[in-house]
Amino acid sequence: MADLEVAPPSLHSNAMETFQAQLTRKLSDALSSAGLPFAGEVTPATDPRFGDYQSNTAMVLAKQRGENPRKIAESIVSKLDVAEISELPSVAGAGFINFTLKREGVEEKIAELVDDERLGVATDSSPKKIVVDFGSPNVAKPMHVGHIRSTFLGDALARIAEFLGHDVIRDNHIGDWGTQFGMVIWGWKNLLDLESLKRDPIAELVRIYKETNERGTKDETVREAVRAELVKLQAGDSENFAIWKQCVDLSLQEFSKAYELLDIHYDIVRGESFYNDRLPGVVDRLLKKGLAEISEGAVCVFFRNSPELADKPAIIRKSDGGFNYATSDIATVDYRINKLKRDTLWYVVGAPQTLHFKQIFEIARREGDKADFRHIPFGNVLGENRKLMKTRSGENVPLRDLLEEAITRAEKIIADKNPELNEPERKEIAKIIGIGAVKYADLSQYRMTDYVFSWDKMLALHGNTAPYLQNAYVRIRSIFRKNAVDPLSRGGPSSPRRVCDRAGGSRQQTAVTLAEPAEMDLAKRLCQFAEVVPQVLNDFRPNVLANYLFELANSFHAFYEACPVLKAEEPARSSRLALCDLTGRVLQGGLKLLGIGVPERM
Ligand code: ARG
Repeated sequence: MADLEVAPPSLHSNAMETFQAQLTRKLSDALSSAGLPFAGEVTPATDPRFGDYQSNTAMVLAKQRGENPRKIAESIVSKLDVAEISELPSVAGAGFINFTLKREGVEEKIAELVDDERLGVATDSSPKKIVVDFGSPNVAKPMHVGHIRSTFLGDALARIAEFLGHDVIRDNHIGDWGTQFGMVIWGWKNLLDLESLKRDPIAELVRIYKETNERGTKDETVREAVRAELVKLQAGDSENFAIWKQCVDLSLQEFSKAYELLDIHYDIVRGESFYNDRLPGVVDRLLKKGLAEISEGAVCVFFRNSPELADKPAIIRKSDGGFNYATSDIATVDYRINKLKRDTLWYVVGAPQTLHFKQIFEIARREGDKADFRHIPFGNVLGENRKLMKTRSGENVPLRDLLEEAITRAEKIIADKNPELNEPERKEIAKIIGIGAVKYADLSQYRMTDYVFSWDKMLALHGNTAPYLQNAYVRIRSIFRKNAVDPLSRGGPSSPRRVCDRAGGSRQQTAVTLAEPAEMDLAKRLCQFAEVVPQVLNDFRPNVLANYLFELANSFHAFYEACPVLKAEEPARSSRLALCDLTGRVLQGGLKLLGIGVPERM
């Protein structure tokens, strides 16, 4: 429940206000003139029968003061000055205040949105300096579906944060250092097949890693030799270092092919090896500050006062002198805060690492680091048998195979749907549809939910899928294309619209008329885009945006069925074309924030 100290959200001066922000501001004014404190934002109505927005402020205040909620609600309503955009607010139930938008208010907002490149989305009034640590696959191991969620989720969050005006660094914290290299190097020296390495480097690296591992389980001398190779690498042996470097380079080349296909970009790639030199310093520093202690020959940080971590110390230097994953993450925090000058660190990493990040963040806090640390965990991708997704032979499904299959399947669907497309065009569209489908299947789920990976579901042209949304966009584009109507000059140069442009001069603005319920419904949804986008970052839920886009597409189809567009008389025709155009732009812009493209036809 909101307490007395809740402050109204700070206002954004750089863009138009959303209805939600406007009503919240008006509510806040009414409360101060009634001598009452602010106690929470106006929210979208939970039930459309009661209107478009609601506030439970009166109930919160009544509870705090032991007064009658309906009475407080009445007194707030008597001070509310919202006539411009809302019908007279009503008091309902236990003391809800309900708002129903006025038609003219929505018409005016739509006209503004049509001319707004940002589709109404304001930038955040307190921009942050963020590092998003996402993807972060391991070298000499294939990137598999398990890395998918981190990659898609992290990319979408980075895009949205950037769009909201935050300063974002995308960092690929690859696993390019660690004990696996003892095996890889031994395998390289004893088992490597150069031809296979040329053909498929990652597959060959994985093969030698696995085979070495297997031999080691049976043969003590192999185990010894593997350990010796690791020690030599850590001591800077030039031969082993060169092998390691080749493995890293080959893996990075493979990763970039996938990233290119996925349209995912990193600003920096600072893998674990980057922090290697800093690890002894980390241990010394923590010992000196008294935050770490020596226990059974190892250096540990204990969390004795934490109920959760009391029996889970972090080992930052093992008794054999080696460093851990934790040590390199402590060095990473330091680098991000002090060298990259970040105030916000997001780690998009699976739920199994929750404990690890709790330890790391706690150590950073004890060191006095002032940053907003967030571990953004997620659930699993399951196969159709509801078990962790694997290939038939029980291996992780390589990401590359998965993407190739997505594209092939999409191509078949497009060939059926539109046989007239020529091959290069079909191939290009298949890429957008196939990859969009895989990304959307992931992002449209709440991130903590395990979901079943199903080709048929994700590629369906109906239902909450990327192809459905992309198809809605294509339909809109075809309205303009087939009829040679330019979306920028919707009703033609003589249509009656005027507005101030950015330079302060005047130009035409679409006269929007929302007479039909389906038009009004679509228009209200379009206005909500600016409310939904910032909401994604509250709890890192791109699925909120995905589901909004799905509902928008549904509203569009209902509108398109109920309201003729090109055959309508003016002014309805121009107004409806404007709604179509705006819907297309919101679909395209919203999908782009999820990292998903749209084709012009399909
Ligand atoms: N490479 C790790 C893995 O595949 C993920 C790294 C996440 N980032 C970090 N700073 N620890 O499990």
